[in-house]
Amino acid sequence: SAMLAAGAAHAEFPERPINMVVPFAAGGPTDNVARSLAEAMRHSLGQTVVVENKGGAGGTIGTTQVARSQPDGYSVLLMHAGFSTAPSLYKNPGYDPYKSFEPIGLVVDVPMTIIARSDFPPNNIQELADYVKKNKDKVSLANAGIGAASHLCGTMLVEALGVQLLTIPYKGTAPAMNDLLGKQVDLLCDQTTNTTQQIDSGKVKAYAVTSLQRVPTLPKLPTMDESGFKGFEVGIWHGMWVPKGTPKPVVDKLVKSLQAGLADPKFQERMKQLGATVLTADANPQALDAKVKQQVPQWAELFKKAGVEQQ
Ligand code: MLT
Repeated sequence: SAMLAAGAAHAEFPERPINMVVPFAAGGPTDNVARSLAEAMRHSLGQTVVVENKGGAGGTIGTTQVARSQPDGYSVLLMHAGFSTAPSLYKNPGYDPYKSFEPIGLVVDVPMTIIARSDFPPNNIQELADYVKKNKDKVSLANAGIGAASHLCGTMLVEALGVQLLTIPYKGTAPAMNDLLGKQVDLLCDQTTNTTQQIDSGKVKAYAVTSLQRVPTLPKLPTMDESGFKGFEVGIWHGMWVPKGTPKPVVDKLVKSLQAGLADPKFQERMKQLGATVLTADANPQALDAKVKQQVPQWAELFKKAGVEQQ
């Protein structure tokens, strides 16, 4: 029957490579997570997962592309907390966080680091606080566009320091990092999935981590909280979504594959090296749905308090 045929068609998913959209530049933090995950999911899917980098506008361009793609399971979005901030930062972000997608599950949680070009004068966060007050119009802060993780953390940093900085947007923190290494920009608040190696090799100056506990892979780096910025905390959760209307059997298959991917020892080892926590227990649609419902109003509140205006 037609129904059996349709069921059989879904049972065969995926029949061709899957496109995983990363809404930021290649070689950056989200891309690092996505490429490891794509490799881990390939085994359980029996198909290649191709990562497509579609950066711009804090991740909203790539996110919108997936929202408008065929709901057939072949277009998958790997995005982070920025998914839930765009609605309060953009008049028209291009997607609705509640209505445009089917959630697959949570993926990883990543702490952030506050870093500077290697020859930037301040040597710790207190010196940084003094320095920016004395040089307010000269200090530049890179980010990956309005709503990106680096923008969220940067907004919190500006609040904490009580000084406006000159912000410079990029299509991801990979190109922002390049300019930091090239000493064209002063400061960046970026995820450990992009900064660990550069901090370890001394190519950038690191001031603090944004988690309440120190990060095991960066044990010498103090937390913002212990450095006098009580309660300063931001962690970047990542999730996976497909367009609204994707058939349930296809969603189920992707959920199983995500769970298998997160359980992959190679994926786990890589995430550990980069300071990320794998969210195994929350790799399901219910947990991601709950996360988005909790996060959208929470960020809206923070931006309102910080006086951040809609674009
Ligand atoms: C990226 O992959 O470039 C980042 O996740 C950017 C950001 O959100 O700061």
